[in-house]
Amino acid sequence: MAKVRQSWGSRLGIIMAVAGSAVGLGNFLRFPVQAASNGGGAFMIPYFVSLLLLGIPLMWIEWALGRYGGGFEHGTAPGIFHTMLEKNRFIKYFGVIGIFGPLVIFTYYTYIESWTLGYSVFSVLGSYKGIEDQATMQNFLGAYQGLEKNGFFSSIAPAYFFFLITFSANIIVIYYGIRGGIEKLCKVAMPLLFILGLIIMVRVLTLGTPNALRPGWSISNGMGFLWNPDFSVLAQPKVWLAAAGQMFFTLSVGIGVILTYASYLKKGDDVVLSGLSAVSANEFIEVILGGSIIIPAAFVFFGPVGIKEVAGSGAFNLSFVTMPIIFQKIMFGTFFGAVWFLLLFVAGITSSVSLAQPAIAFLEDEFNIGREKAVKIFGVVAFICCQPAILLLGKGVVNELDFWGGTFCLVLFATIETILFTWVFGMDKAWDEIHHGADLRIPRIYRFIMKYVTPSFLLIILFSWILKDGIPVILMRGVSAADKPYVLGTRIFLIILFVTISIFVKIAWKNRKKKR
Ligand code: ALA
Repeated sequence: MAKVRQSWGSRLGIIMAVAGSAVGLGNFLRFPVQAASNGGGAFMIPYFVSLLLLGIPLMWIEWALGRYGGGFEHGTAPGIFHTMLEKNRFIKYFGVIGIFGPLVIFTYYTYIESWTLGYSVFSVLGSYKGIEDQATMQNFLGAYQGLEKNGFFSSIAPAYFFFLITFSANIIVIYYGIRGGIEKLCKVAMPLLFILGLIIMVRVLTLGTPNALRPGWSISNGMGFLWNPDFSVLAQPKVWLAAAGQMFFTLSVGIGVILTYASYLKKGDDVVLSGLSAVSANEFIEVILGGSIIIPAAFVFFGPVGIKEVAGSGAFNLSFVTMPIIFQKIMFGTFFGAVWFLLLFVAGITSSVSLAQPAIAFLEDEFNIGREKAVKIFGVVAFICCQPAILLLGKGVVNELDFWGGTFCLVLFATIETILFTWVFGMDKAWDEIHHGADLRIPRIYRFIMKYVTPSFLLIILFSWILKDGIPVILMRGVSAADKPYVLGTRIFLIILFVTISIFVKIAWKNRKKKR
């Protein structure tokens, strides 16, 4: 008996869900660090150019493609690509990236998400109370992650415990489905996230000049440190690549998740205004909230010299090492620490459930498996796949997973879907498809942008990344001799995963007669 596909309960529901997928750790951690290290306010020029030429067009393309595929009961890229180019037998295998990529990101993203839950509890329990310098706080984090043996944690058990809770929370949400799980979660989580973000932002912006001996270490100078533009960096290609990379990561485009979410729309549902609303929500939270928290707060306590070192130590250190120190220096720090990590957890879970959904949709749509069973299968497979990121964290495994799943696949997938939609499917049909049921007409200039500018931009990024990052990564330059076997093992694991999903695609198409 044919199953009825799931659907969204309301328009607000899907906008919240897509915004929830977009707003994540990237908004609060990755964005401010990228901006601070790539020209401050000047970074906003390549950032907004990327938003207009990549982010927004890709968002519309993915919403439209997803809705189109959903009309043929396909919620993932293999089926969606196949419906657009039926005569090509291979095109569906390119779509495998849209299931493989999110699954790979899920395997390490949920673990990092679980640290935020753990630290939220530690803030309340006062577990890191009294640690006031970066080095000791770093030891605390290292022990928690199982990378160091010191007095703080004797094993990885606490980290594993929080991982199990986080993983189970994700599985429970997706078990309840699109409407009963993801939509319900996001409708509560997104306003909550916004309130938590506002609380922290207001606290940071009212810090003033806490160190009376150092009047220059003020919040306004902290904002200046982040936002004063250094236009000289705009001549550097790496700054443009960083901005484009941030755009992919923050909007969750090029991953495959928006295709899946949009496949649960109805044919006449608007995608233009809804897609734009999700982008706007993400950008507000990223630029306004994300841009006013960690960097200005760190500046106030570490000063103009210290901040450079702190910002250079990366987004994770800022969040899990610097912020806990800062919270101990302010009144009601326990409360604000808990709010900060809870904010990250809420931002994380609304993203990670979206990363799980393509694999579930693939099992449901292409194998006619019921949702509960699909979630159980996903749970077992994903749980096994998460283990390398947890147990081999210090061996370069997460970097490798992030490079292939979280960076390379995104750009490759976006390039394929854009060319397929605007060139193969054809710009006239694509334009009509996007505007079907639309509440807003897109300015005509976007016809040109989507057909020529976005694909050219993507191809430039793809080739520059292959040259700049891809070749050194493939050759494992910069990987220590001790880590090489683990990185190689991760690569073999990724190849096996990709081939396995491809085989499943082959089986699915062999067994099918009815759908396109
Ligand atoms: N878009 C998600 C984030 O920003 C993945 O974290």
